[in-house]
Amino acid sequence: MTRPTPVRPDLGGPFPAHIAIIMDGNGRWAERQGLRRILGHREGIHSVREITTECARMGVESLTLYAFSHENWKRPAPEIRYLMSLLKRFLVEELPTLMENGVRLRAIGRLEELPAGALKELRRTEAHTAANEGMLLRLALSYGGRTEIADAVRQIAEDARAGVLDPAGIDEETLRAYLYDPETPDPDLLVRTAGEMRVSNFLLWQISYSELYVARECWPEFRRPQLIEAMRAYAGRKRKFGGLVADMSPEKAAAPVTPIAARRQRAE
Ligand code: FPP
Repeated sequence: MTRPTPVRPDLGGPFPAHIAIIMDGNGRWAERQGLRRILGHREGIHSVREITTECARMGVESLTLYAFSHENWKRPAPEIRYLMSLLKRFLVEELPTLMENGVRLRAIGRLEELPAGALKELRRTEAHTAANEGMLLRLALSYGGRTEIADAVRQIAEDARAGVLDPAGIDEETLRAYLYDPETPDPDLLVRTAGEMRVSNFLLWQISYSELYVARECWPEFRRPQLIEAMRAYAGRKRKFGGLVADMSPEKAAAPVTPIAARRQRAE
């Protein structure tokens, strides 16, 4: 499967390789239209399609969408059922568009908690799109940043007990290796829609140095123009990763400042 040639907009600065989005405000959007809250989720699918396609065509490497949080299981059962049926429908109906744009789909989260039908469709779409060479679309499903870290720590403890891992050698990179998707680099840009200034347990480990952008629009209103505006805001930021020099790469800037790395350097 070939990768379509990307058409990048001129942002006047760096282009984000990985964008993560907290898709908020579906309920509010629906209420404002005099509709039932859940119909906001249905409308939100149009934004998922447009933003995925636009990002893929512009050459974004990865897009991570917060589609269902671990905490969302607390919502009323009919809303959960509706969201799960939307997920299944999305996976079936969007497959041709994902294939056309060379998009690989992968899911992160406690996926075993999803209903069997949705999980089956998810695995099918992952397998079907696995050889695509374009953008990686990650759907965060039954996902929580704290549960991700807890799951990683439990596995680390089990491996240490089994003698596979030396506790003295555990550092940040060890923990990263036990996260749901260790290979995808951290998001450069974290977008939240509907004006809320919260990270809501999303990618807690990975967003340490992500640039934050909050859009006023609710998710169903977030389309290409709003995406470009967020990207332009990102392009204007100076990233330092805790260092003093602007625009340093995360590798150069972050590695020496961790306490464990500093202790090791002093010991060497
Ligand atoms: C928050 O809006 C949004 C969600 C809980 C789910 C997001 C889901 C979609 C956009 C559709 C499904 C996505 C895929 C990929 C199939 P909210 O209901 O909390 O809004 P509110 O804060 O205005 O109530």
